[in-house]
Amino acid sequence: MIQCLNINKIYKTANLETQVLKNVSFTINEGEFVAITGPSGSGKSTLMHILGALDSPTSGQYLLGGEDVSQLSEDKLAHIRKNKIGFVFQAFNLLPRTTVLRNVMLPLIYANIPENERLEKAKKALLAAGLDEDRWLNLSNQISGGQMQRVAIARALVNDPSLILADEPTGNLDTKTGEIVLATFSRLNKEKGHTIILITHDQEIAQHADRIITIRDGNILEDNTLSS
Ligand SMILES: Nc1ncnc2c1ncn2[C@@H]1O[C@H](COP(=O)(O)OP(=O)(O)OP(=O)(O)O)[C@@H](O)[C@H]1O
Ligand SMILES: [Mg+2]
Repeated sequence: MIQCLNINKIYKTANLETQVLKNVSFTINEGEFVAITGPSGSGKSTLMHILGALDSPTSGQYLLGGEDVSQLSEDKLAHIRKNKIGFVFQAFNLLPRTTVLRNVMLPLIYANIPENERLEKAKKALLAAGLDEDRWLNLSNQISGGQMQRVAIARALVNDPSLILADEPTGNLDTKTGEIVLATFSRLNKEKGHTIILITHDQEIAQHADRIITIRDGNILEDNTLSS
């Protein structure tokens, strides 16, 4: 499903070039549950943006579903991001002054899902993400950080994407809620075959995946399949 070949990413700012990813290569098959882990600043979010076709590598090749992302039209890319990938960002990127329920329904509106189905799917996703029903009509800036996290997860799940990319999805959650969210990812992976890439700096959280790719200073340090 995912093939990275010698991916490099260089950020240029006014007087500085930083190489954030260095010859990164790996393959992720459909149905895998992979954690990408490494310390702060190691390049995890940068890599996730490339995997989600939100940013392009400076050099190297990225194939998604066998297609070279750099060769796809903007329309095709938009379609892939809308219909095939569920994103949970490190900063939740919720629309403020908009209800929880509407935030979760938004991807469905963009994907032209009929109105009667939207509500149904949004409710299901919120339940799966573990957000109590009494918060659903709150504005998304009038709930706690942990609750925002769950709204962001529900939004990522709502259009039933084949690939879920989650950047520190448990970062703002207490241990127990974090466990519920991780169990949700495991269930989506095992029962429904979603491919899941979980980005975390936390070794213990990474253990919930079946495979752990460790990056350090933009290099892949280890790539281990866990025996369960
Ligand atoms: N747009 C940008 N322009 C310049 N440098 C950037 C940009 N985005 C990230 N960086 C730098 O690239 C490096 C990797 O950043 P990245 O966000 O990928 O790290 P991370 O592993 O996700 O860290 P964290 O665990 O803190 O989220 C950091 O040194 C960061 O300062
Ligand atoms: Mg990050």
